[in-house]
Amino acid sequence: MDLSQHTYEISLEWTGAREAGTRDYRSYGRDHVVRAAGLPDLPGTADPTFHGDKDRWNPEQLLLAALSQCHMLSYLHIAVKHEVVVTGYSDDAAGTLRLNRDGSGEFTGAVLRPRVVLADEGQRELADSLHAEANRVCFIARSVNFPVEHEPVAAETAADDAAAGADEYAGTFYAQVGGKETFRRLAAKFYEGVAADPEFRAMYPEEDLGPATERLQLFLEQYWGGPTTYSENRGHPRLRMRHMPYKVNSAARDKWLEHMRTAVDSLELPPLQHEVLWDYLERAAHSLVNTPDQPHSQGLRLL
Ligand code: HEM
Repeated sequence: MDLSQHTYEISLEWTGAREAGTRDYRSYGRDHVVRAAGLPDLPGTADPTFHGDKDRWNPEQLLLAALSQCHMLSYLHIAVKHEVVVTGYSDDAAGTLRLNRDGSGEFTGAVLRPRVVLADEGQRELADSLHAEANRVCFIARSVNFPVEHEPVAAETAADDAAAGADEYAGTFYAQVGGKETFRRLAAKFYEGVAADPEFRAMYPEEDLGPATERLQLFLEQYWGGPTTYSENRGHPRLRMRHMPYKVNSAARDKWLEHMRTAVDSLELPPLQHEVLWDYLERAAHSLVNTPDQPHSQGLRLL
C-alpha cells in the first residue's frame, strides 16, 4: 500500500430538478446535497447571483472554507513544532472571482485574516511568522492556481480575549455555563439525537436540520442572558404559538425531553448548573403540550 496517497470521497445529489429540469435557465433549481459517509448532509446551491439560494452553501464559499480550514490546521501543527502555544484562532477569509465574457470564471486570489490568540504574547513575532510556513505546506493552498495571501489580524492574549467576552455577559447564566460554545454543543447534540430517531424526526418539516439547530441554540443563548440574535432574526420568541403547527402531545414531549436529556448530560456541567438548566427545559416542554392524548392512543401519533 502506498502511504503517500490518500483518497477522498463525497457524493452529490441534485435536488433542484423540479418538473421541467433544464428546459431553460430559470426552470430548474440549483439546490443539491453534498454527502459523505457518517456526516450531516451539506446543503449546496449556486451563488445567488447565479440563481442560487442565499441560505445554502455555494462552491465558491466552500473553496474558501477549505482554504481557511486547511491554513488553520497547518498553522496549529506548525505552532506545536515551534513550541508556540495557541489558545484561540478565528479567520475571516475573502476571495475574488473574475467572470469572463465567455461565461467562464476563475478565482484570482484569496486573502485569509487569521486572528491567533497566544498563551504568551512574547511569542507574537514568531507566531505571526509561522503563517508563511503554514501557507507553504497547506494541501489546499498548494492545489489551487491562484495566490492565497494571509494578513494576520492583531489578536489579544488569552486573558484579554476572555475579559472582552466576559464583560458583556458577565454574571449571566449564559457566561457561567461557558457561553456560546456550550449552547452550540447542546443544540447540536439534541438535533443529532433527533436525526437518528426517524419517527420523531418526521415531526420536523425541513429536510435540513441545520437551521432548526441554529434557532434552538440562539433562542437558548438569549433566554439565558447571552446575545439577542434570536429575536433580531426571528422577533419575539412566542414559543407556544410557534409550536402550534406541530402536534405536541405527551409522547412527543417525552421524546423531546429524552433527546434533550442526552444533550444536557453530554455538557457535563457542575451539578447546580445542570439542575437549573434541566429544570427549565422540563418545565418549558410541559408548557408546550398543545394536543391532548387520545384515550387509547399508542405510539407518538405525531401527524
Ligand atoms: C415539548 C416538546 C417539543 C417538541 C415536540 C418541539 C418540536 C419543535 C418543532 C417540530 C420545531 C420546528 C423546527 C424548526 O423549524 O425550528 C420546533 C421549533 C422550535 N422549538 Fe421546539 N419542540 C418542543 C419543545 C421545545 C422547548 C421546550 C423549547 C425551548 C425551551 C423549544 C424551542 C424551540 C425553538 C426556539 C424553535 C424554533 C422556533 C422558530 O424560531 O421558528 N421547543 N420545535
